[in-house]
Amino acid sequence: MNGTLKGKEFITLRDWSNSEIDFLLDVSLDLKRKFYMDIPTPYLTNKTIFLMFFEQSTRTRNSMEAGIAQLGGHANYLDTSTMQISHGESAKDTGIILSSFGHGIACRNCFWEIGNQYLNEMAEHSKRPIMNLQCDLYHPMQGVADLLTIQERFKDTKKLKVSIIWAYATSHKKPISVPLTQALLFPRYGMEVTLAYPEGLELPDWVVAEAKENALKYGGTFQITHDMEQAYRGAHVVIPKNWGSWSSKTPDIDIHQFKDWKCTEKVMSLTDKDSIYMHALPADRGNEVEDSVIDGPRSIVYQEAENRLHTAKSVMMLTL
Ligand code: CP
Repeated sequence: MNGTLKGKEFITLRDWSNSEIDFLLDVSLDLKRKFYMDIPTPYLTNKTIFLMFFEQSTRTRNSMEAGIAQLGGHANYLDTSTMQISHGESAKDTGIILSSFGHGIACRNCFWEIGNQYLNEMAEHSKRPIMNLQCDLYHPMQGVADLLTIQERFKDTKKLKVSIIWAYATSHKKPISVPLTQALLFPRYGMEVTLAYPEGLELPDWVVAEAKENALKYGGTFQITHDMEQAYRGAHVVIPKNWGSWSSKTPDIDIHQFKDWKCTEKVMSLTDKDSIYMHALPADRGNEVEDSVIDGPRSIVYQEAENRLHTAKSVMMLTL
C-alpha cells in the first residue's frame, strides 16, 4: 500500500483495495493488543466525529463512541429525528455544516434506494471523510470485523468454505447490506463462498456478477443454492442471517413458509468438524438460530461483535 488513507471515504469496501483493507486489519490488531494491555492510544486527540443515526443500533453506535473516546477524540451522537433533516434539510447542507465543525461524519441510513445515495451526496459536499455505519447496500464496518474474526480463527482464508445463508426471522425487516458486503468481500480473500436462500430472496444481479468476478480474480469461488442443507455441508464458516426482500419482483413474499430455514444443531452437524457460527447480531433467537447453537462452542458471535470496536477504531484512526 502506498500513501496515507487520511480523508478517504469509508462508504463501501469496493473502493478499498485488498492492501488497504489488510493494512486496516493490521492496525485493528495493533489497537486490539493495546486495548488488552491498557496501553493508551491517543491518536485522535481533539478530533470530533459526528454519528448520524436514522435507525437504532447497539454495536455500531457504541463501538464508534467508545472507540473515538479511546483514541482521545469525541463523538457527537445525532438522532436524525431530532435534526433539521426531519424538516427536510438536505444531505448537502448537513454534510457541509457538520464537516466544518469537526473531522468526520459517520452515518447509518438503511432506507432502500435512499441510504447509499444519502451518504454519497454528503461525501460530495463534505470537507471531511464520510463513514458508512450501514446503508441499504453496504455495511463495511461489519464486513471488516467479520473478515478479521475469520482470519483470527483460520489464518489462511484461501479455499475456506464460507456459507452465507438466509434465515427466518420475525423481529424486523433486515437490510441486505450485511450479506451483500460479505458476498463481495469474501471471494476477494480466496474463500469458497456459497450464498443460500429460498427463491425470491436473492441479492441484486450485479452483486452476484461482481462476487463471481472477484472469485475469479482472487482464486475463490462463488455459488448460489436454494438447498439449505447443501450450504451447511462441509462448511468451515456459516453465517445464517435474515434479510428482507428488496426486489420489486417479490415485494410481498410470504417468508413464513420458510420457517425451517433455521440454524439448528442438526444442520450444524453437517458442517466441518472445526466450523464456526457467525452472526452480525442482533439475532432473532428461536427463529434464525437455536439458543444451543448461538450459545454453543462453535459460536464466535461475541468475538465478532467485539472486533467491531477494534476495526471501527482503525477506520477512524486511518481516515480522520
Ligand atoms: N451488527 C450491527 O450493525 O449491530 P447494530 O445494529 O447493533 O449496530
